[in-house]
Amino acid sequence: MTILKNLVIACCRSVTYYYYCLRYPKYQDFVDMGIGIAARHERCEKYWRTHLDASKAFQRKSILSAPQSGTAVILGAGRLLDVAIDEFLQKCRRVECIDADPSARISALSRLKNGGSYLVKEITGVLGEWTTEVNECVTQEDVTKTLSNLVDQEWRPLTYPSDILLSVNLLSQIPIYWRDRVHQILKSKLSIETDDHDKLPQVFEELLQSTMRKLQTIHVRQITQSEAKLLIVIYDTAFHFYTDAGVFLTEPALLIREEFPGYSKIDEATWSWEIAPKGIEFAAYGVRHDVKAVVLSKG
Ligand SMILES: C[S@@+](CC[C@H](N)C(=O)[O-])C[C@H]1O[C@@H](n2cnc3c(N)ncnc32)[C@H](O)[C@@H]1O
Repeated sequence: MTILKNLVIACCRSVTYYYYCLRYPKYQDFVDMGIGIAARHERCEKYWRTHLDASKAFQRKSILSAPQSGTAVILGAGRLLDVAIDEFLQKCRRVECIDADPSARISALSRLKNGGSYLVKEITGVLGEWTTEVNECVTQEDVTKTLSNLVDQEWRPLTYPSDILLSVNLLSQIPIYWRDRVHQILKSKLSIETDDHDKLPQVFEELLQSTMRKLQTIHVRQITQSEAKLLIVIYDTAFHFYTDAGVFLTEPALLIREEFPGYSKIDEATWSWEIAPKGIEFAAYGVRHDVKAVVLSKG
């Protein structure tokens, strides 16, 4: 019976995956990751609980004393697993969710209960163009030139006015999608491969890192140059990889300085997220994230 149930679930996931990939070819990686997040959430629910509760509790506390508001915008909304959606719906007339993963739309809408919308959109506004530019490279020199130029490119402001703006577990994720796209293009088109630590040859790695920093800078500019009166930002600060013997690798998740110009900090919190407990996701090692949450008011 369990085998049959698992088979049906696996079939449904495959159909969902191909449906959204065909319908949104440019967002295939977001569909892939999103369906992965949903599956991992099911497998690791009890380990994720502390993180999900902490994330929602922080949002609840942050909006508690805010005045009744017009619109809340939630960036990186996904399936709203880590969002205190009921409190947002009580506090605001409209809740607009924005995320590049179309496969999360149905579950998000079911929780919005006509109180909001879900827009499938890549938030930085540059990822599509950047991908095309790297895709057009035919030599290694083209790649270095293109990556260098991207760092100086203009960025576009957010066009979604809000009273309360929540960026939820997005700041640290934006560069990861970009990194994976670059890895995949360089490998398939120019046979440039990553090493055992997932790093490109040094010259490309350094340029890639600077573009990853640029994407985080764009996101911080977008949210701090919005008109939101209240800004809540929840993001990873570090990724730890561990075995029974302890942590063997720590990577920074935040590649830029923690500054939110134009806003004053009201409160902050930190906690850990056991995102891939050892023995459940991978037999040999586990992954834990350090998470930080800040709430800021305009001015
Ligand atoms: C770690 S998940 C956060 C969990 C999510 N709130 C949920 O409950 O499913 C990060 C989310 O950010 C979205 N995301 C990452 N980069 C994005 C981008 N550049 N534009 C739009 N959404 C993005 C992903 O699709 C994903 O849903």
